[in-house]
Amino acid sequence: MSRITAIVLAAGKGRRFKTKVSKPLAKINAKPILIYSLQVFDKHPCVSDVIVVANAGNRKKILAAIKGYRIKKAGVVVLGGRRRQDSVINGLKMLGPRADFVLIHDSARPFIKKGAVSLVMKAAESCGAAVLGVPVKYTIKEAQSSKLKAQNKNFVKKTLDRSRLWEIQTPQIFKKEIILRAYRRFGHSEVTDDASLVEKLGNAVSVVMGSYSNIKITTPEDLAIAEAIWTTE
Ligand code: CTP
Ligand code: MG
Repeated sequence: MSRITAIVLAAGKGRRFKTKVSKPLAKINAKPILIYSLQVFDKHPCVSDVIVVANAGNRKKILAAIKGYRIKKAGVVVLGGRRRQDSVINGLKMLGPRADFVLIHDSARPFIKKGAVSLVMKAAESCGAAVLGVPVKYTIKEAQSSKLKAQNKNFVKKTLDRSRLWEIQTPQIFKKEIILRAYRRFGHSEVTDDASLVEKLGNAVSVVMGSYSNIKITTPEDLAIAEAIWTTE
């Protein structure tokens, strides 16, 4: 069986979340957001260890939560960096020699399922890189701002073909050599997910059907949505 090291990102500043308590420690049904995914990884037979990436402000409380909820596999908590990808780099530096796959997950997505992790893993084993995603439900248009800047208006440049668009989530799983090579070569470029760097290498990335309830907690109203998902699932 392949072994996975999971890197769980919790080093963001949560600027759009706008609460005093750090976003990964904010609670959904009395449990910190970060703990939901850590419990899934703790139980998953393919995950051998978990590296949590925290920031200077939340590290101590994250360590206490890991202890309080008896998360066994999260033995390493490192400090992240300014951008998400800098945090990933700090996590990658802590990889041990044992794991052959690396899973990267945003702690801001609490509702991942064991089965989804297994499906992404299966796809990553066959093509080297795989991500979870869901088909886009909305009409997406590319817009550009008016040439007359003073007007401050956006105009449609084109309407994208929705039948080919996927909204990409985490976890994303990669063969260790592939993600290390992608970060070595392109880690400096601005991206919003890890698979983008693997795409730049020219490697195939498999997209696995996820679930619409695997939401990312970003703004305060997402907490109410999360509570609703938690009660119905
Ligand atoms: N993240 C991180 N290090 C950073 C930035 C983000 O580890 N320098 C993590 C966040 O903790 C989060 C995930 O990446 O789990 C996705 O980021 P996002 O939802 O944007 O969270 P924040 O960056 O914390 O929020 P914001 O952008 O509103 O400040
Ligand atoms: Mg952010």
